[in-house]
This record gives sequence, structure tokens and C-alpha cells, in this order.
Amino acid sequence: MSTATIAIAGLTGKFAQCIAKSLLAESNVSIRGYCRDVNKLPRAVLDSPRFEIIQGEFDNHELVRKFVHGSDIVICCYFGGADLMITGQKVLIDACDEENVPRYVAGDFAVDFTKIPDGAPFPKQSTKIMMEYLKSKKVDGVHILVGVLMETFWSPYFGLYNAQSRRLSHWGAGNDIWEFTTFQTAASYTAAIALDPEAVGVFRFLADRKSPVEIQEAFNRIYGQTLNLSSLGTLNVLEERVHAAAKAHPDDLSTWGASGFTLWCINGKAYLGDLDNAKYPRIKPVDLETIFSRSRIRSSAPGRSSTWTLIWEILPSRHLHIVSGFEEGS
Ligand SMILES: NC(=O)c1ccc[n+]([C@@H]2O[C@H](COP(=O)([O-])OP(=O)(O)OC[C@H]3O[C@@H](n4cnc5c(N)ncnc54)[C@H](OP(=O)(O)O)[C@@H]3O)[C@@H](O)[C@H]2O)c1
Repeated sequence: MSTATIAIAGLTGKFAQCIAKSLLAESNVSIRGYCRDVNKLPRAVLDSPRFEIIQGEFDNHELVRKFVHGSDIVICCYFGGADLMITGQKVLIDACDEENVPRYVAGDFAVDFTKIPDGAPFPKQSTKIMMEYLKSKKVDGVHILVGVLMETFWSPYFGLYNAQSRRLSHWGAGNDIWEFTTFQTAASYTAAIALDPEAVGVFRFLADRKSPVEIQEAFNRIYGQTLNLSSLGTLNVLEERVHAAAKAHPDDLSTWGASGFTLWCINGKAYLGDLDNAKYPRIKPVDLETIFSRSRIRSSAPGRSSTWTLIWEILPSRHLHIVSGFEEGS
């Protein structure tokens, strides 16, 4: 069997490392990585004969062309501002065309942006722009949609979970569904797509769908601790705020990025709908309850006042401290 060469742009990133982990489980796969600083890569990657690393800036056409040359597919794992996500992706896609790379996985990994009307305040406009750009190119575009990544949902990015008060804030009455996939499940599907030469177009994968009320039930049952819920207001209020902030500061995602993603995660308009999970039955999606069951709540100084930390392991080398400074009163 011939060896597949999978090229990953942004190899130092969390999602890229999860994809690499899944790919390395297969024989006959070699990984070409592009990044701006090789020193950020784990030693095991630098020493492995299965990796070839090219260091360069995202806009260095010559090096990007060298990076994509001879690969079977290029996966974009960049995460950054518009310059990176639009200009950087155009550089990758143009290089794919020049080097006759057959397929390109866009840096999407989001809710179903294909259902979001043009002009609506969606923080990841690069997804729509790159989908259009790919239509005019020789290289076949692949778009992988996964809802919200479960680890990110609990992280300070969304600001919904407060570890001190063990409180999950939500919009609406707590019954609106979030669509979830873990980093590793999403990465496993991405790796499967990369190794399936017939896979082109849009793919939708999910591990779980849960409302805040359902999350509370699972948390309470599995940890034996009460997850407090509190409403931030109605969905209409959220929508009005996102529209107002996006109008006032269209390019400043620090003001409306997280709330904008929240809106499209739960307003029902960008849900994934029919899934493609069954096309890759070897992959077993990891749901929220499994993650709760596997994640440690670590207690330091138990007794009168304990500090609890939930450690969520994305990779052995990269622990995401999802719930930190969790104060348990006496
Ligand atoms: N649906 C969701 O809830 C969700 C959640 C998280 C991520 N995602 C998506 O998953 C994808 C990967 O995200 P991630 O969490 O893995 O991101 P990450 O860990 O922050 O990694 C981002 C990558 O982009 C590179 N990068 C950033 N700025 C750069 C620049 N100016 N020039 C060159 N490279 C640059 C980083 O390089 P350095 O290491 O050198 O900085 C790194 O390799 C993105 O498309 C993101 O939107 C989706």
C-alpha cells in the first residue's frame, strides 16, 4: 500500500496535534507540517521520521508551495485574525492549485455556516469567503462542521462557566440545545476524511446535543456536586446585543466574537441537521457524559476549604484546565 502524505498547516495548534495523533495510529501515513516556529512542536514530532516540518510565515508563497508539494491533501488548522484565515488560506489554496494537490480542508470546524444568511453577524466570515474562493479553483474543497468544540464551551473563551460559583450561565430558559464535539472526536473524523480520497464537499459530525438543563442533570449525577444554572436573558436580548456590537465594531471580535458564536450555536438556524458520522463507523464519538466520567475533579487541601480543578486531557502533553479555582466551602 502506498504512503499517504497529509499536509497540516498550523501544526503547532491544539486541533492539528489531535489530527496528527489520529493519523499516526494508521500505518502508511506521513505528515507534512507547516508552522512559524518549530520550537513549539513536541520533541517527539521533531524526532519522528513520519514528520517533515517546514517553518515559514503564512504569506511566504515559496515556502507554502514547497510545503504542499506532493501531498494528497492539505488541512488548514490555522486559527487567528482575518489576515491569517483569509489571506493565509488563499496562499495555501493557490499553492494547492499550482502543485496539483487534489483536496483542501478549509479552516472551518464550526457550526453550519452554510445556513447562515450572508451579511448576518457571524464571527467566522472566513468560512463563507473560503467556500466561495474554493469554488473557482481546481483543488476540491472539503468543509468539516462539528458544532462547538466541547472543551471550548467550558473554557474562559465563552465565559459561561464560573468555577468559583460552580455556575453555568445560559441564554433563554436553559432548554436551547448546544451541538458538541470533542477536539479528539472532531480530529478523528478529520483524519478519516483526509485518508478517504473520495471525500469532498461538506461533512457534518457531532458527538452530542445537550441543553444547559440536560448538562446540569449529567453534571450533578456524575460529580455528585450541584451545577448551578443562571439565565443571562432571553435569546432576543442576545441577538439584539450581537447585532448592535457587530454594527458598532465589525472588525473587533473581542467585543462580540464569543457572544456571536453563542447566538449561532443555540438559535437553531445553524444546527448541523443530518450527520455523516455513519460514513466512518470506526470512529466512536465521545459524548459529554463520557467526558465528565473520564475527567478528574482534583481536590487540593480537602476539608474546610477545597480548591477543585477539573483537568480535561486533550493530549498527554497539553492539559486544558477547564474548571479551575473551584472553591468548595466548608
Ligand atoms: N467550533 C469550535 O468551538 C472551535 C473551538 C476551537 C477551535 N476551533 C477551530 O479549530 C481550528 C484550530 O483551532 P485551535 O484551537 O487548534 O487553534 P490554536 O491551538 O490556537 O492553533 C492555531 C494555529 O494557528 C497558528 N497561527 C496563529 N496565528 C498565526 C500567524 N499569524 N501566522 C502563522 N500561524 C499562526 C498557530 O501558530 P503558533 O503556535 O505559532 O501560534 C497555531 O499553529 C480553527 O479553525 C478554529 O476556529 C473551533
